[in-house]
Amino acid sequence: MEEKFIKRLEERIDAEGRVLGEDILKVDSFLNHQVDPELMQAMGDEFAHYFADMGITKVLTVESSGIAPALMASLSLSVPMVFARKHKSLTLTDNLYTATVYSFTKQTENTISISKSFLSADDKVLIIDDFLANGQAVNGLLDICEAAGATVGGVGVVIEKRFQRGHQFIVERHIPLLALASIASFDNGHVVFSHEKEQINVQ
Ligand code: G4P
Repeated sequence: MEEKFIKRLEERIDAEGRVLGEDILKVDSFLNHQVDPELMQAMGDEFAHYFADMGITKVLTVESSGIAPALMASLSLSVPMVFARKHKSLTLTDNLYTATVYSFTKQTENTISISKSFLSADDKVLIIDDFLANGQAVNGLLDICEAAGATVGGVGVVIEKRFQRGHQFIVERHIPLLALASIASFDNGHVVFSHEKEQINVQ
């Protein structure tokens, strides 16, 4: 990953992020509410560059905050992006792959779904999300890929919190993981970044 980009993202998190309680980082000004399209495009390029040689055919995410980075990665890879829906749609009723996702942050359970029309055994998937915390969203998408017989080529997240379970969960499954920003801990309301290289190399 480009050093210049890491610095740019970390500076943005330092300047605009707010630590809430023990383990939440609020970055509503460029990622989770207002979206900075240029930063998002640069993120997409970083993901695409890292997973360029993997034969990715589709980018998968979960609505809503995953959509912006996933779209930019898919644009840069020239493949479609599909987002799993959390809510029942009137026009999307059967022919669905579904998985249950528990949100520790919100303490709610969601069923996520993707139409069988948009994922198949021919696909090699790149999973993209905004945050990697406990890995529940990624786990749900892995379940869906397994049900579809699709191969998972990698996982890319904008911000991972290494002190939660998600990072280990993915590494243990030998899935290539790229986190654009990696947070080791929060210290008195400040973000401490991790620059540990524990990512699995892309073959
Ligand atoms: P997980 O997906 O990694 O397991 O995360 P977890 O269950 O802990 O969190 C559930 C929701 O909270 C997810 O969004 C996740 O992206 C978000 N989240 C987790 N940690 C943080 C954080 O430190 N900061 C922010 N801003 N969000 C965090 P979601 O429910 O899918 O919501 P959305 O995508 O519709 O916004």
